Amino acid sequence: MDTIRFGLVGTGFAGRYHVECLRRVYGTNVVLAGVTSKRPESRAAFGGEHGIPVFDGVESMLDHIDVLDICSPPYVHEHGILTAAAAGKGIICEKPLTGYFGPPGADESFRGDLVPKSDVLADVLARLGRIADVVRDNGLFFGYAENFVYAPSVQKEREIIRKTDAQVLRMTGEESHNGSASDVYGFWRFAGGGSLIGKGCHPLGAILYLKRVEGISRNGTPIRPATVSSRIHSLTRLPDYRDAGMIRTDYHDIEDFGTMHIVFDDGTVGNIITGEVTLGGIYDYVEVFANNHRTRCRLSPIGIAETYNPRGDQFEDIYLIEKASTQEGWSSCATDENFTMGYQPELQDFVSCAASGEQPQSDLDLALDTTAAIYAAYLSAENRGVETDIPRL
Ligand SMILES: NC(=O)c1ccc[n+]([C@@H]2O[C@H](COP(=O)([O-])OP(=O)(O)OC[C@H]3O[C@@H](n4cnc5c(N)ncnc54)[C@H](O)[C@@H]3O)[C@@H](O)[C@H]2O)c1
Repeated sequence: MDTIRFGLVGTGFAGRYHVECLRRVYGTNVVLAGVTSKRPESRAAFGGEHGIPVFDGVESMLDHIDVLDICSPPYVHEHGILTAAAAGKGIICEKPLTGYFGPPGADESFRGDLVPKSDVLADVLARLGRIADVVRDNGLFFGYAENFVYAPSVQKEREIIRKTDAQVLRMTGEESHNGSASDVYGFWRFAGGGSLIGKGCHPLGAILYLKRVEGISRNGTPIRPATVSSRIHSLTRLPDYRDAGMIRTDYHDIEDFGTMHIVFDDGTVGNIITGEVTLGGIYDYVEVFANNHRTRCRLSPIGIAETYNPRGDQFEDIYLIEKASTQEGWSSCATDENFTMGYQPELQDFVSCAASGEQPQSDLDLALDTTAAIYAAYLSAENRGVETDIPRL
């Protein structure tokens, strides 16, 4: 296919950078053929700003597109995927793939943190099964928008593992910051959980990806996650938490800090840290300890430039780095986050693969393993860290 028509669901933070990146893709003609979102005024404004035809829903957009690009909140991902798949369309889905959002009609009184996590895991596995079946049975293009996979630093490590036949013994990864900007974040029924699913999915996706690369490179078979042990905490909801006004605190029923210890099929391990209580800008990395090398993959800060600003107001209209709460003193500067965080290479891979029929680096299998591992982690955390099997789809 020389030309691919994309339809976007969601006009928030992710929707904006998807449009920016799709406009910079080379080698295939990209047409932004439609956009929809929940509120008529916001989709009309977004469509007007970017010159994209506006539709009142996914269903009415489908006849005009080849690939549905899902940038809506997690609780509506499954609906978008199943609707697009039924019409034979390709799919890009933002992370997390899907999750548990409570019983139908869950309202303000719903407390996801109190639901037995074996029920949660069973519900999520049913959802994953529905998604896997419809995408696989129809042979559809599926891009799982996990930008960590595409960060240039992680792709460099992919090259090192493949070319040196490295055995990765352990990895550690993190995504943390001082709280999401999204209004609906903090409510389990919209986000599917807290830090583990909202942020931990990123470094987890990267370490699962790198072990897949290792296995496929050596034996033609991915090395997959077997078990997980996890702890989660709600630090900003502790009775003695002292709010200094610098960290978001209005979480309804989610954790704001978590860890996951993954054991892979081959007995090697990965450790994830994630949370909403980290000041100093978004903190994203993966570090790999192999039998023949060690690599620090930085996503943010990456250290490309640092600037000292004695007076905050001077930098009022200068963007430095995601989630910085001040522009004063020394700051790391991100010069092109769409590239260094992996968004641009991600959309490039998705467009190229949708056109050629090849499998993208971040695919459905990675999305399924990541999601199953995280909900197995919630079950482990309920049991205060007991090692828990990760179900396979
Ligand atoms: N890869 C990353 O680094 C990254 C960063 C931010 C967000 N995300 C993911 O992107 C997705 C969107 O997050 P965001 O931060 O852009 O959220 P946001 O709140 O900024 O925007 C969400 C958009 O979805 C629309 N929406 C809400 N409910 C809808 C519905 N029922 N039908 C259609 N549209 C609906 C809203 O109108 C809004 O336009 C989430 O899955 C999030 O996890 C990924």
